[in-house]
Amino acid sequence: MRVFVLTGAGVSAESGIPTFRGKDGYWRNLDPTKLATPEAFARDPQLVWDWYRERRQRIRTAQPNAAHEAVARLAQQTDEFLLVTQNVDDLHARAGVAAEKMVQIHGDIFITRCSRCDFSYGGRGGSPEPPGACVVQPTNRRLRSIATTSERDLNVPTCPKCQALMRPDVVWFGEQLSRNELERVEDFLDGGACDLVIVAGTTATFGYIIDWTLRASQDGAHLIEVNPEETPLSRFATRLVREPAAIALPRIVDELRNSGAL
Ligand code: OAD
Repeated sequence: MRVFVLTGAGVSAESGIPTFRGKDGYWRNLDPTKLATPEAFARDPQLVWDWYRERRQRIRTAQPNAAHEAVARLAQQTDEFLLVTQNVDDLHARAGVAAEKMVQIHGDIFITRCSRCDFSYGGRGGSPEPPGACVVQPTNRRLRSIATTSERDLNVPTCPKCQALMRPDVVWFGEQLSRNELERVEDFLDGGACDLVIVAGTTATFGYIIDWTLRASQDGAHLIEVNPEETPLSRFATRLVREPAAIALPRIVDELRNSGAL
């Protein structure tokens, strides 16, 4: 069995992590251009960090759900397996998907990296917010004026190597995907036809998500979509499961095991 799985925010929804475009999704109440773009970070790094710290905290206290556990079982029982997740949380990893079988294509919220040089430090979901959140003494006049006009400290970590602002290692709107992670996906897709493709909990908003799904399933692979709602990928699916991922995925993995496919 060669298996390709793509997941999105819907898979973590039942762990209490909001989606982006759903009813209570982040982008219903918050403006992505103020929080998830390089321009937003240049304009107000503290606001952006406040949002990511709040999200990190929420993820730390969340637990993987039955969907993450089912994907982990599938990963463990399949030799040729790749999970591409758009989720920046660590719930797939905490459920037991090995790093070499997973690509976090939109980055990892717990890694903090320099916005200028190559310095970065990792954090784990279970660890507290690093005290590296040192107060910036802005040399930039605009940042200084933000700090003084709002009478608040810029509680933003700075790079110990080059003093530029540190940022979460996530992909923001308008940014390129990591070349390294892209290559891992391409290598897997070039490595042979898939038998099974599962797409779960994503609106498939981005072209590359659609492309990878269609490429993986083009040679007759079974394409299962798990999503309570229709998406642009629905019409290509050989099986539509309109249920929450934490209900559907454990059943699908059990079925595969019972049929002898795993
Ligand atoms: P979205 O918020 O766009 O979509 C969540 C999807 O999950 C929707 O299709 C829901 O119908 C579905 N869903 C909700 N609850 C579910 C459940 N319990 N089980 C299964 N499905 C459920 O999230 P993504 O598609 O992941 O990118 O968003 C893609 C990217 O857009 C994110 O990675 C983020 C965002 O902007 C960046 O930040 C670059």
